[in-house]
Amino acid sequence: MLLNSQKPASLGFESLKFDHTRKLHSHPSRILGSWSVFYRTQKPNGAPNPIWCQSRVCRARGEHLITKVWSNVRNNSTVVETRVNDKNFERIYVQGGLNAKPLVVERIDKDENTGRGEESVVGSEAENINYENLEVSVGREESESEKEAWRLLKDAIVTYCGSPVGTLATNDPGDKQPLNYDQVFIRDFVPSALAFLLKGEGEIVRNFLLHTLQLQSWEKTVDCYSPGQGLMPASFKVRSVPLDENKTEEVLDPDFGESAIGRVAPVDSGLWWIILLRAYGKITGDYALQERVDVQTGIKLILNLCLSDGFDMFPSLLVTDGSCMIDRRMGIHGHPLEIQALFYSALRSSREMLAADDGAKNWVRAINNRLSALSFHIREYYWLDMKKVNEIYRYKTEEYSTDATNKFNIYPEQIPHWLMDWIPEKGGYMIGNLQPAHMDFRFFTLGNLWSIISSLGTPKQNKSVLKLIESKWDDLMGHMPLKICYPALEYEEWRIITGSDPKNTPWSYHNGGSWPTLLWQFTLACIKMGRTDLATKAVNLAEKRLKLDRWPEYYDTRNGKFIGKQSRLYQTWTIAGFLTSKMLLENPETASRLFWDEDYDLLEICVCALSNSGRKKCSRGAARSQILV
Ligand code: GLC
Repeated sequence: MLLNSQKPASLGFESLKFDHTRKLHSHPSRILGSWSVFYRTQKPNGAPNPIWCQSRVCRARGEHLITKVWSNVRNNSTVVETRVNDKNFERIYVQGGLNAKPLVVERIDKDENTGRGEESVVGSEAENINYENLEVSVGREESESEKEAWRLLKDAIVTYCGSPVGTLATNDPGDKQPLNYDQVFIRDFVPSALAFLLKGEGEIVRNFLLHTLQLQSWEKTVDCYSPGQGLMPASFKVRSVPLDENKTEEVLDPDFGESAIGRVAPVDSGLWWIILLRAYGKITGDYALQERVDVQTGIKLILNLCLSDGFDMFPSLLVTDGSCMIDRRMGIHGHPLEIQALFYSALRSSREMLAADDGAKNWVRAINNRLSALSFHIREYYWLDMKKVNEIYRYKTEEYSTDATNKFNIYPEQIPHWLMDWIPEKGGYMIGNLQPAHMDFRFFTLGNLWSIISSLGTPKQNKSVLKLIESKWDDLMGHMPLKICYPALEYEEWRIITGSDPKNTPWSYHNGGSWPTLLWQFTLACIKMGRTDLATKAVNLAEKRLKLDRWPEYYDTRNGKFIGKQSRLYQTWTIAGFLTSKMLLENPETASRLFWDEDYDLLEICVCALSNSGRKKCSRGAARSQILV
């Protein structure tokens, strides 16, 4: 598909070619409005476009900034007819055509709706946000660690045209080679966002959601190839571009993986964006944001990417290696649990947020079907406890039939030695990945925690995961919560699976390192399951060292004793994760708005093609009875 975005508003879309999954029609202006003051331009080298802050009084940082934005931009809408599993979805109206997606950001206190066309103003200045005076959530004196953490979090705020829009991944003045750690990462910003929201500060989160929405891909280009719309970038940077007469201009420059080390695809970004959008509404009560037309379109584009058909046979999402928090080669390509758990959470979030309009019925049906199939798949095939290990140990192989016991043809020889010793008598967990003849038995923390938070696991499984974490405390918590995965890949496995990655050596970084940012998600899972004792223990453990160690990104060694070999210091999501954990523990009622209970209606849904064809009885019924006990 050939796209040129030099001229955003007046392209003739008639000339655009169609591809197999999306039909693009030229479409007359639906609602008239002035063109956005923000739009994306094509970089000369063809890389994805930064957003320019135009027709504004927007100078270098620190100067007085006022930005005017016209909020109603509907000219040159393009209709994207979405196709999800052959169900007829509503048409998605793409603002400004394919490659120009106008930004609409208003003040947080403004009554807004993009469909109404009022003029509005961007920009309370970052300096105007008085983070110091925000109330302490429980009315107690904050600890020294908390005070420092708040100061550091505030210092990490990134502004764009005068408004706070995110936080730097790392803000270490001593770091001479920040690589891309001086950018705002979508996934890294989530704990920052929650810390701000729990402190009563919503503007930065709202700005972040709207600006990243604006960056959402309409024409991602990597090596002359343009995959689907809807992808959210991994990160973005606010760049200052020189203009004439010693003036500079700020632009938002997204990275969709085309600059990232290893060119990894940020599959999790869109899922996090949806999850955060829901959290923003739940905590601030500002549901108008998610009701906006442009925001609704953003949700649907992400869903569209996730729900469209591919060659895959499973309801889980098929992704490449390094497409989430573990963003380099670690043998997690295929159907990694982390992506499935975030996908499930994003689907549940979307179902709550999609406006009840004409097209909503089809979306909700598709979401429900996928939720149902996905939870069945994960609960049945990813769950591992002592009983299941014993079952696999005795598996017959090479079974050809629809009712095979060993459906994925797993050879018992695959069961690693460490697992036979490690699996406790009580408790269990979701395995890391499942593919034909392949089970990744490693324990991946983020995926397991989000299975609990989103109720992807059954209530019993969720309880059992925390039981396992408790009984394996030294392995998973050690000196610093929490291990990103357990155990590490060593020797030949490390060589073959990581490609001899010197950053991912055994018990370092992604390969069995300990990541304090995982603490807030552990806390949330514990609150949900009534195990705040475990969360408190972990938070206290972290608090003893984080400030002293200068808020490292990760820790190394088998039990997290040392600051990571190449760990960044003053890592923002470490800082924010700590603050968020503290506040969640003190506000369990607010915390409860961030997780999901079991959806019993989903258990009734079955879209199993086998049962329809009458070839085989669907196993859903049996599974349901197990879940309900
Ligand atoms: C590393 C992490 C990734 C994180 C980024 C910024 O690449 O693997 O998860 O988002 O740093 O902190």
